[in-house]
Amino acid sequence: NVPANTRALNASLGGSATAVVDRVTVPAGYTAQLLVAWGDPIMPGGTAFTGTASETAAQQARQFGMHNDGMHFFPFTGASGTLLSDRGVICVNNEYTHEQILFPDGPNLSGGNYTLEKTRKSQNAHGVSVVEVRRINGQWSVVKNSPYGRRITANTFCRVSGPAAGHALLKAKAHTITDTATTPTGGLTDGTYAYGTINNCAHGMTPWGTYLTCEENWNGNFGSTSPVSTSVSTEIGKLNRRYGLSAGGFGYNWHVNDPRFDLNLNPMEPHLFGWVVEIDPFNPRAVPVKRTALGRFKHESAQYVVDANQRIAFYMGDDERNEYIYKFVCAGAYNPTNKAANRDLLDSGVLYVARFDANLTGQWLALEPGTVGVDGVALRDNPNFAGANDAEVKAKILVKTRMAADAVGATMMDRPEWTGARPRIGGFQEIEVYCTLTNNSQRGTNNGSQPYTNPTDGSGASGAARPAIDAANPRANNVHGHIIRWREAGQSVTATTFSWDLFVQAGDVATSKTPNSSNDFKGNIIDSPNGSADYGAPDGLWFDDFGRLWVQTDQVGDGSGDFVNIGSNVMVCCDPNTGETRRFLTSPNRCEVTGVTMTPDGRTLFVGIQHPGEDATAANPTQFSNWPQNQWRVEADGVTPLPAGRPRSGVVVITKDDGGLIGS
Ligand code: FEO
Ligand code: CA
Ligand code: CA
Ligand code: CA
Repeated sequence: NVPANTRALNASLGGSATAVVDRVTVPAGYTAQLLVAWGDPIMPGGTAFTGTASETAAQQARQFGMHNDGMHFFPFTGASGTLLSDRGVICVNNEYTHEQILFPDGPNLSGGNYTLEKTRKSQNAHGVSVVEVRRINGQWSVVKNSPYGRRITANTFCRVSGPAAGHALLKAKAHTITDTATTPTGGLTDGTYAYGTINNCAHGMTPWGTYLTCEENWNGNFGSTSPVSTSVSTEIGKLNRRYGLSAGGFGYNWHVNDPRFDLNLNPMEPHLFGWVVEIDPFNPRAVPVKRTALGRFKHESAQYVVDANQRIAFYMGDDERNEYIYKFVCAGAYNPTNKAANRDLLDSGVLYVARFDANLTGQWLALEPGTVGVDGVALRDNPNFAGANDAEVKAKILVKTRMAADAVGATMMDRPEWTGARPRIGGFQEIEVYCTLTNNSQRGTNNGSQPYTNPTDGSGASGAARPAIDAANPRANNVHGHIIRWREAGQSVTATTFSWDLFVQAGDVATSKTPNSSNDFKGNIIDSPNGSADYGAPDGLWFDDFGRLWVQTDQVGDGSGDFVNIGSNVMVCCDPNTGETRRFLTSPNRCEVTGVTMTPDGRTLFVGIQHPGEDATAANPTQFSNWPQNQWRVEADGVTPLPAGRPRSGVVVITKDDGGLIGS
């Protein structure tokens, strides 16, 4: 396994081009190859990708899903108990679908052309793909018929556990998930199970070897054929408002064919989404578990830290403009010698939300029944959470996490995306956690014409006062985003106070929009020519075992507008001590770079490429990108040509040509 020291950034980690080209570029001395892409078979019975999107829903259910995001490599264990670096299972989130590319004719909503079969295919392209991969003779490939191969989709049976399980707000209309009985029966579930997971964005894993998938923009998959209440005088109306549910959703139209997703026919169903879901990567029959103790919001990333007392916390972002950063501290201690003893650690503990104060300290505010809000009222006495007893109050706090965070005065952030914890190695013993704040068009006053509606109370249908800039979010109209980091007091994950600073305010040195703070560009950009490691919209964030910070970006990706000097999306490698930053990977057109994981030996890096050619139309699916087939015409087996046709999200595998450690 890799040596436990913080490595300096070798010059080999930088130097990839800034030009916008429709391919993955890595520095000289490295090779990137396609590992798996949307539509590839990953489990028994899977069929090869056609290239024309002619696959049926049933075929998609055995193929790699669309628009991959966070992922983690789980190594097999060798005979001597060592972790293997040539065989593993990768769990990959499939965040969302681009319906124009998913079907030969796009969604085609008119005249009965949007069918239940299409809805099912879209649902089957969401979720999680569990993929066995092997390296044989130096070549990585997918084990296409692996018994470990698995798809978890919008219809997979899941268990709901933790303090909110069984609460009335989770008792949705009962369904039988078959294509002959899709109408709500009128009966109710008992709130302890759910069907499916959707909009799985960033991820986490646990030290006991399970995968965590985080449900982000699940609200967009719901809709209704009739108006949806966002009345602040009803409980469901308030929830719909605070979580952004609407009749139109994000245009999926699943509700047209699948009434489970109709907000008026099934108003409790949305409460079964917005959770962190735990998956056993090595047991394809294990039921995924929605862990309600971690709260309900637009989850993005769940990074764990175990401290010196074996206490464990998970750090989490809620990715929407002016939302919050959370941590969950398990009630029980982590047991490193008996993995099974940790099985239900995620079911009890305290959920906190962060307040970042101007003096560079902060508070973790417990979302517990007795916590007094900024209005002087304990959450248990707040009408939003009132219940028969504190157990019910806690259940309501967890279902309405955002509203509880509003009540206690947490700090509105510039879209919290990934969290990452710096390894405690090489004498560094602080618990230091980083979070990307990708951008925010709804802060400050100079935001042009974009209306702002205060989500906490719905005030100001248009043009209401946006949150002012603050110390932790110091830019109005924060186009390029920043990265914040904090250190827990006493090197304990149970701390309720922390210190913080900004690691970097991202951007383009040449055209910086608002250099309004001494913190601007505090990162020490090192690349050649100077400035070519500038980036915008940091999103993916991950520490490798060497203590190096990797940052992936999600901006428009075509080198336009504010990104004219920055070019396409990138993955950079940063030194957390100095801020030194090197541009390691540049990406195809109009994609984002998201998802990164490494083998235990530090010699293979997996990187996700999501939505190349975003916004292409069904009539012209390749108008913006033809990746990956334009870069690799022969698949990993060296024989099979990649099908021509539409662009595909996928995972690339990167190795060093001399076989050495990444970054050596
Ligand atoms: Fe799915 Fe916030 O990225
Ligand atoms: Ca993201
Ligand atoms: Ca994106
Ligand atoms: Ca993003």
